[in-house]
Amino acid sequence: MKEIEVSAPGKLMLFGEHAVVYGHPCIVTAVDQRINVSVKQTNNNRVEIEAPDVGVVGYTKALSLLGEDIPKGIRFLEIGVRNFFEKFKEQSGLKIVSRSEFSSEFGFGSSSAVTVAVTKALAELFSARLSNQELFNLCYKTILDVQGVGSGFDLAAAIWGGTIWFVAGGKEITSLACEELPLVVGYTGIKADTSALVRQVAVFYKSHTAKAEEIFEKISVIVREARSRLEEKDWQSLGQLMDEDQELLEDLGVSTVELANLITAAKDAGAYGAKLSGAGGGDCMIALVSREAKASAEEEISKSGGRVLNVYANAKGVVVK
Ligand code: PMV
Repeated sequence: MKEIEVSAPGKLMLFGEHAVVYGHPCIVTAVDQRINVSVKQTNNNRVEIEAPDVGVVGYTKALSLLGEDIPKGIRFLEIGVRNFFEKFKEQSGLKIVSRSEFSSEFGFGSSSAVTVAVTKALAELFSARLSNQELFNLCYKTILDVQGVGSGFDLAAAIWGGTIWFVAGGKEITSLACEELPLVVGYTGIKADTSALVRQVAVFYKSHTAKAEEIFEKISVIVREARSRLEEKDWQSLGQLMDEDQELLEDLGVSTVELANLITAAKDAGAYGAKLSGAGGGDCMIALVSREAKASAEEEISKSGGRVLNVYANAKGVVVK
């Protein structure tokens, strides 16, 4: 039987995290760490899933029970299948194998990448026509069904690839011209809980609405400015904007001592600028560096207890092999 293989990239948030949840734009880039999913039809009425990277091996589920009692690591996969079947009125036994090039510990967006990869693979398998925007909408439903919150920026990166200007829910998705992006990425060693941080900011928003809105407005101005500087490759100004965004994220209460230490280390080593990337609370920081400063920024991040992750920005979006 026909087997479809699809890969989708992870992502890094460059500017505008949290504010994007409140209707402001953000800028995200796809990274060269991918999730690969293969899908084929089977003759039984079951969905079988092998996802060894998240500890799921030999999993099998009757089609009639899809969506119930799902192990944590494969919730996006299974709900993605259910939502596809519902939308296209399909039903078939399936064998699905997923493999990741990166640990789901890093906030590279493994959930969104796997959702995009499996949905695209099913569209190929059942010859369902889906534009990028339709693929986004279907995947966004899966994300909201599973985790209830999220702007969907990570899906856009996984689908379109490259570096993207994004407004929540996919209201605006524009590819930006920026072939190179000299980044260093440092992992704090602390896995972050994105939904918990989004909820934490919601609590702050409720109790300090004027302050929160002021922060989001300022972030929005930075994101708009960053778009122009990025396209001009004005790294110096872009670094400055990263620093300003970081200060606002600190005011929002989502940075941590560990993130701040790695950010300071990168800047002391000569980075143009640095900030946390994603929800905060741990996870990764990014620094914008010149070719000359790259090695010393990496060394200083390591010395400060961070783990340098070797990733490149601007990766290709979802690909059918
Ligand atoms: O933690 P990450 O890398 O998934 O980023 C979350 C970014 C937020 O703006 C906080 C949430 C969102 O869905 O946009």
